Amino acid sequence: MKALLLDATQRTGVVKSLPCPVPAPNELLIQVKAIALNPVDALYAAEPLGKTGRVLGSDFSGIVVSLGSSVPESSHLVAGSRVAGFLQGASSIDDHPGAFAEFLVCPWDLVWRIGDLPFELAATVSLCALTAAQALFLRFRLPAPFTWCNSDVPDTKDEPRTQDHGPISIFINGASTSVALFASQLAQHTPCPVRLFGSASRKHFSMLSSAPYNYAHLVDYRSPGWPQQVLALTENRGINLAYDCISEGDTVLKTSMTLKKMVGVHGDRTAKLAVVRSREGGAWSTPMKELGVEPSYGAVWEGLGEEVIYAGMTLAPNAVSRAFTAAFYAWLSEGKELVPNPVRIMPGGLANVAEDGFVLLGSGGMNDRQAPAKDQEYMRPVSGEKLVYIIQ
Ligand SMILES: NC(=O)c1ccc[n+]([C@@H]2O[C@H](COP(=O)([O-])OP(=O)(O)OC[C@H]3O[C@@H](n4cnc5c(N)ncnc54)[C@H](OP(=O)(O)O)[C@@H]3O)[C@@H](O)[C@H]2O)c1
Repeated sequence: MKALLLDATQRTGVVKSLPCPVPAPNELLIQVKAIALNPVDALYAAEPLGKTGRVLGSDFSGIVVSLGSSVPESSHLVAGSRVAGFLQGASSIDDHPGAFAEFLVCPWDLVWRIGDLPFELAATVSLCALTAAQALFLRFRLPAPFTWCNSDVPDTKDEPRTQDHGPISIFINGASTSVALFASQLAQHTPCPVRLFGSASRKHFSMLSSAPYNYAHLVDYRSPGWPQQVLALTENRGINLAYDCISEGDTVLKTSMTLKKMVGVHGDRTAKLAVVRSREGGAWSTPMKELGVEPSYGAVWEGLGEEVIYAGMTLAPNAVSRAFTAAFYAWLSEGKELVPNPVRIMPGGLANVAEDGFVLLGSGGMNDRQAPAKDQEYMRPVSGEKLVYIIQ
């Protein structure tokens, strides 16, 4: 089979032939039909953690070819099932293969059944929707529309509440990012009433104020006073939960400025802030005393439940996070599907991912995205959409 392999010396991906992988007892062999690109795919090709020869890439959709011996019948998976999921790509120093290949193996509980959804749309969902779900339901502790191992007896003392029992206000910075396009939808699946506030370019306001995103209020992130505009839209009460889907430079500070500052009258409820990139990773550096609250950060990889070894730190295996992923994907499999991201189908296949897709995504950060050298229409900046390649 063909796969896109990391060339750690040239800091890029190259297509080579590899033997087809063999599924372990708990795994599925999947024929990949489409892949979707995430900023981390480009980042870890440009700044390699893994060794040359590692298969790159995270998000995929495809068809189950065969099942390992211990995949349970209750999985409702058979040869021919249409599925989507994500792998770690080259985002660690261990040697787990990624998804940008003609065939891959994946644990059965880390895929979801996509039904009739076209492969190119289904490929956009798994990584970013899980990232958003982890922020809303694990970090913010909003009640989830599904249960996982330890959520049967919820610990409600930390759940967000509003002082006046009105809707919970949620502000999403970078509302047109892939993560945010799922976060806004998922926020509407919590049983609590919520009111969505977001920042984006004006050109996306019409899309974002309509179904399925349904923002009540939007501000232009290029307007210098946008945090004050958000506060004014809350009648200066402030936001209960703020999710910075950019987390670069001063965006964490600006997002924190939208938050409700006071502790609730009933005691200890404070507003919460979540970020998509960590302070330790260097994309932003504002100290907690300036933010007023310590942002919560998590890497989506923890949802795979396995140890992830980065250059300087190790993510411990996390059984609860794995159970959360399995429950979330089981919920998606029931057809409570989220609307996938708008897609830009990129020309070519695996061979074009590094020279086109990775160039458009830069080296991971929004500020690193430079105008590409090619002037074709498909090389315009990524804006409110996901880059997708059809594999076979
Ligand atoms: N923690 C994790 O595990 C995890 C998981 C997934 C993603 N991430 C990170 O989350 C971030 C978002 O990823 P993504 O794939 O969702 O991004 P994306 O879809 O590629 O984001 C592109 C969008 O960002 C908007 N944008 C750029 N700068 C902005 C700013 N300063 N304020 C508001 N909007 C801005 C652009 O809007 P315009 O075109 O209109 O300017 C564009 O629509 C990335 O840094 C990624 O690495 C983290």
